[in-house]
Amino acid sequence: MITLGIDTSCDDTSVAVVGDEGIRANLVSSHLIHAEYGGVVPEFASRAHTCLLYPMTELAIKTAGISFDEVDLVAATSGPGLMGSLLCGLSFAKGLACASGKPFIAVNHLEGHIYSIFLSHPHLVPPVLVLLVSGGHTELVLVRAEFEYLEIGATLDDACGEALDKVGKLMGLGYPAGAAVERLAKEASNPVPLPRPNPKALDFSYSGLKTAARNYLKAHPETSSSDIARGLEEAAFDHLTDRVVRAVKKSGVYQVGLCGGVAVNKRLRSKLSAAGDEAGFKLYFPLPELCTDNAAMIAVAGRARYEAFGESLFDASAFDRFAFAQRSRS
Ligand code: KG4
Ligand code: ZN
Repeated sequence: MITLGIDTSCDDTSVAVVGDEGIRANLVSSHLIHAEYGGVVPEFASRAHTCLLYPMTELAIKTAGISFDEVDLVAATSGPGLMGSLLCGLSFAKGLACASGKPFIAVNHLEGHIYSIFLSHPHLVPPVLVLLVSGGHTELVLVRAEFEYLEIGATLDDACGEALDKVGKLMGLGYPAGAAVERLAKEASNPVPLPRPNPKALDFSYSGLKTAARNYLKAHPETSSSDIARGLEEAAFDHLTDRVVRAVKKSGVYQVGLCGGVAVNKRLRSKLSAAGDEAGFKLYFPLPELCTDNAAMIAVAGRARYEAFGESLFDASAFDRFAFAQRSRS
């Protein structure tokens, strides 16, 4: 079975082709224009998606070495994300499916990120405790069984990647800043001590850390960017690690998956690995190219849903935000 996947949830246009044997094409085009504005400008993102979707779909099909006739299923992200961006990919996918008579499936973007772990580790079976850490989300999701998700922790304010991006912007690192923060942090000699957030239970909070970093930058303009970057990473990732260890102990689930754009970060991976060695849990990281937004994860999640529940209706909306996981905050 060959699935064409489309993701336009934010400021990356991605089109993928995934077959039974794995990924045949996974194209991602990041819109550089947003860097000039220090953040995503939704109207520019929608316009770029509109221009890119058709040629990228043609290129993905060509890269995969197939013709469009051989595609069996069209999958597209239906939320959460920017409404204008989502509508571009969703409408395009529905149009393709409708005109060609192929089945269409709507996919939750967060479920897609979770499938990036299973795509990289095909033999992994639930239960898995997932830390999803990206520019828009910081969540702990217990995958109890296939399609059975329990959200046991989430950020109360900013997402972890958002905090890295916002502090990075203050440091003049452009947008998004996560990768630049990681590069700089490697050269630190005297990391700036920043406070570790500590909200209740398994939740996360990053706005206080962001403010503390901003205040430090104002008060100590002479501090080296590397030392700030490393201090920011340490505080941000200690918080993530602390919640993962607590969640493992609370849930009794000793398989931990990491996904989302921040999951690329090597310092985060090594902190979690050290915590895993100590607390006895095993970590499952996706391939780096599957951590950041991509359509291969959407194709794989879409195929799994299609095989289990059949195709989506064409009235599937771009409001797929809350239906994905049950919540538990005990
Ligand atoms: O998953 P993603 O591509 O998009 C969302 O769904 O948000 O994640 C993007 C986020 C951005 O905040 C970006 O700064 C961060 O992932 N990121 C990183 C690294 N590469 C990307 N954060 C830390 N270290 C990195 N190497
Ligand atoms: Zn994402």
